[in-house]
Amino acid sequence: MPPVLVELREVAKAYEGHAAVRGLSLAVEAGERLALLGPSGCGKTTTLNMIAGFLEPDTGSIVIGGRPMAGIPPHRRDTAMVFQSYALFPHLSVFDNLAFGLRMRRVARAEIATRVREALELVQMAGLERRYPRELSGGQQQRVALARALVIRPGVLLLDEPLSNLDAKLRQEMRLEIVEIQRRLGITTVFVTHDQEEALSIADRIAVMSEGRIEQIDGPIGIYHEPRTEFVARFIGDGNFLPGQVAGVEDGQTRVDTAAGLPVRAARGRQRPGDAVVAMVRPEKTRVTLRPERLENSFTATVRAITFLGPVTRYQLLLRDMAFAASLPDASHLAGVEPGATVHVGWRAADCLLLDPAVPPA
Ligand SMILES: Nc1ncnc2c1ncn2[C@@H]1O[C@H](COP(=O)(O)OP(=O)(O)O)[C@@H](O)[C@H]1O
Ligand SMILES: [Mg+2]
Repeated sequence: MPPVLVELREVAKAYEGHAAVRGLSLAVEAGERLALLGPSGCGKTTTLNMIAGFLEPDTGSIVIGGRPMAGIPPHRRDTAMVFQSYALFPHLSVFDNLAFGLRMRRVARAEIATRVREALELVQMAGLERRYPRELSGGQQQRVALARALVIRPGVLLLDEPLSNLDAKLRQEMRLEIVEIQRRLGITTVFVTHDQEEALSIADRIAVMSEGRIEQIDGPIGIYHEPRTEFVARFIGDGNFLPGQVAGVEDGQTRVDTAAGLPVRAARGRQRPGDAVVAMVRPEKTRVTLRPERLENSFTATVRAITFLGPVTRYQLLLRDMAFAASLPDASHLAGVEPGATVHVGWRAADCLLLDPAVPPA
């Protein structure tokens, strides 16, 4: 079965006049793993439910495998959903939970047995056919929910926060397994999460959502290293944010006058002189030293706190009146530095990104 392309065109959905999804366009490539990532309430589940057919868009259209989906009910779409709560049938055994969708589709009995066994093997649950959901751990229920979606061999797999009910260790293991299964089957996959680490570790591409819209869509590396907006940069990873105004553009660099009173140099961005911007540098891209270094951005700062975290040491600094974080993999050159000390903090213009300021919601 060739993998299936999913397209959303200017899709919008409101609940009782309250917009949940606002003109969202998206093309999920055949065979890819796409994450919808965003804070609670930004419209992720609503979007997934519209792809699955549990909700109809108010406006806009959804096309799956070249077929417009308007008016097509969930069981006649080439999709299968894994719900956040798993939604297993409590009164049915594992076998019958998986067989249910196949019986609905009038698959022959002998084939049902074969396909249920194959799907359970895929999620490492072979031999547990006779158990009931209440006799399974959370992780096992999650596997059954995944197998129940896969057993109908959908072209598109939809997962709503699939790992949010598992403990941290199991979550990491299941991330790997989901990627392995998806790779083996080549199934087009859309999964929803509010967990940046989950999105980074599972997705080929991440669509960062805010208030019913996609802010940016890119691969994990692009989203992390080249966020375009303050919202995206704040949602993925840590950063130091310096709001200001573009003062000039020259020599492939942009000068920014920041509100903190610091003149900052950034790699050349899309912005023009006079534009409001937020300059951003990730804590791991900064240097903290006893003497000033030859960097395009170099300032004196006061140490507020030093926290040894194992792989890095975190320095919380005051740059003028502004809190500023630096993460250093090696801080041996700062031995003896205590809170209250004056140090130098610097970063390269190339590591300083210019972001569109987050617009406060109207
Ligand atoms: N059935 C519903 N009735 C009314 N409002 C809803 C309903 N479902 C979701 N909403 C609202 O729509 C917005 C988007 O919700 P949802 O798609 O569930 O977001 P997410 O999955 O990103 O947390 C939220 O403001 C939420 O409160
Ligand atoms: Mg949700």
